[in-house]
Amino acid sequence: MKTYLIFLYLYPLLGIGLAFIVTTERNIDLVPKQTQINNSVDTFNHFSDVMNEFERLENWSRLCNISQTAHTDFNIVCIIKGNSSIKFSEFRNFTDKVSSNIRFDLSVTCEEGIIHFPWPFRADKLHSIYIKDCRIKDYRTDYKNQLINSIPDTIKHLQMDNVTIILRSQEFYDSISKANSAITRAAECGPENAFSIIRRGTKVNFEDLHNYRLYDFTTAFAQSNHYFNIQKTTCLYNNLEVFELSRMKGLTRSTISKIFHTDIAQNLKILNFSGNGMSDTIYKLQGLRLRFPVMEYIDFSNNHIKVIPMIRDYGMTVKKTTPVGIIDIRRNEITSLTKGMIDLFSTHEFVKVDITENPLLCDCGIIEVMEYLSSKTMPKAYDYLGSLECANPSNVRGRKLISLSPTELNCNKDTVVNIPVVVLIIITITLVIITLLTFIYFRNKIKVNLFSILNKNVAT
Ligand SMILES: *[C@@H]1O[C@H](CO)[C@@H](O)[C@H](O)[C@H]1NC(C)=O
Ligand SMILES: *[C@@H]1O[C@H](CO)[C@@H](O)[C@H](O)[C@H]1NC(C)=O
Ligand SMILES: *[C@@H]1O[C@H](CO)[C@@H](O)[C@H](O)[C@H]1NC(C)=O
Ligand SMILES: *[C@@H]1O[C@H](CO)[C@@H](O)[C@H](O)[C@H]1NC(C)=O
Ligand SMILES: *[C@@H]1O[C@H](CO)[C@@H](O)[C@H](O)[C@H]1NC(C)=O
Ligand SMILES: *[C@@H]1O[C@H](CO)[C@@H](O)[C@H](O)[C@H]1NC(C)=O
Ligand SMILES: *[C@@H]1O[C@H](CO)[C@@H](O)[C@H](O)[C@H]1NC(C)=O
Repeated sequence: MKTYLIFLYLYPLLGIGLAFIVTTERNIDLVPKQTQINNSVDTFNHFSDVMNEFERLENWSRLCNISQTAHTDFNIVCIIKGNSSIKFSEFRNFTDKVSSNIRFDLSVTCEEGIIHFPWPFRADKLHSIYIKDCRIKDYRTDYKNQLINSIPDTIKHLQMDNVTIILRSQEFYDSISKANSAITRAAECGPENAFSIIRRGTKVNFEDLHNYRLYDFTTAFAQSNHYFNIQKTTCLYNNLEVFELSRMKGLTRSTISKIFHTDIAQNLKILNFSGNGMSDTIYKLQGLRLRFPVMEYIDFSNNHIKVIPMIRDYGMTVKKTTPVGIIDIRRNEITSLTKGMIDLFSTHEFVKVDITENPLLCDCGIIEVMEYLSSKTMPKAYDYLGSLECANPSNVRGRKLISLSPTELNCNKDTVVNIPVVVLIIITITLVIITLLTFIYFRNKIKVNLFSILNKNVAT
């Protein structure tokens, strides 16, 4: 009876359908599928169909709640506590059995529990997947399983928050691409039809680190690099608007550079690499707009970037309606604003590089740079530069660049000593004096020598 109450709650408007249900209560399974029509009867059959199948999953049905959110849409919410666990393969078997037009949204939150979920979590009819706080086992076990490529790639949204991947050494070793055994396209690209792929705060742990030395990872990695250099699988993310890999430690360069250089993601609007401990932006951002024509935001905030990447527009003109794309380099380790940076910023119209909240050192040079800035015609997006705040030295901490005066920084322009020039002058004067002294001292000898050389030459 409980089932019907839920149904009533979800479909208060489907009075007719409900009446039908009640009268056919005992004949649920007798309604032939062929006679299904697109009305509330159909809804009802989806409902029982899905519920019955779901009930058969021992652990899933115990740990998860399933509800119908729309005609053919089902929401599954799981909380995995203590030492319980669920297996993705079981879920995959389940989705195979229900009618083809059903869609599932799956949300799994762990409170200590473990889930056995092999990347890329591919199951027919799975529309979105959200995983939070879980320890994931078997993550790489399907990396070379060719069958995964044949499962329909239905995921539209994938998000993992704060998960810990627990690897076995052998699982890791086996999952590395080798010359004669590549990982599948599914494993390499993940959900290619997705609109968003978000992985936030992922950690990786080995459950048997003591076995790590049993495998020759050095050779495996070398082979793998070689293999990928040859193969270069291009993933086609035709829908992708948001791609995020953030708050991760030990992110490999190839993971990041792939989306920048190899894959196709023409509709990408947000690219997020925030908080990964990256010391540079890794990729050249030249030609950025050519690869990502509608890019709105590239987030490199909270890293350790010291140098701003090269950005060029290659003569590309941008429609007035195109939003200015933001390259967010806030909270990194940029310590100075230089003329070079201002030149760089002045050359492109379609991006704004945001360097606020960096630990700027306000020395005498900054005054000159500010003067240079005011002499340039800058895109409007850079009006903010004057409002950047100093982090050092302490007497001007928190002050805006525009408010600084030369006296305050102990560098009155007239008395500024240009050290390289002074050194050059001293060296020159010293050299001249030495030459003079030497000349005077050896004057006579030189005369004699010159004389004898001339003589010799004449004689021969
Ligand atoms: C069922 O009807 C809805 C509108 O009521 C329509 O959008 C949907 O495509 C139909 N589905 C099928 C399988 O005919
Ligand atoms: C499922 O629903 C029951 C009753 O509403 C609730 O107590 C339980 O916490 C829910 N479980 C999950 C995983 O949401
Ligand atoms: C879960 O752990 C508790 C002790 O922490 C144990 O008593 C119980 O048997 C375990 N349950 C299962 C299903 O392993
Ligand atoms: C169900 O959970 C129990 C206890 O965690 C576990 O031993 C068992 O393997 C699980 N079964 C499946 C099919 O996941
Ligand atoms: C899923 O189905 C396959 C093939 O039917 C079977 O081998 C496997 O054991 C099933 N997995 C689970 C967890 O039930
Ligand atoms: C991440 O997950 C762990 C459990 O795996 C939990 O203890 C921790 O509080 C979580 N951190 C955040 C920031 O949610
Ligand atoms: C990027 O990720 C960080 C950390 O997960 C998040 O706080 C930030 O809002 C994201 N930025 C964008 C533009 O989505």
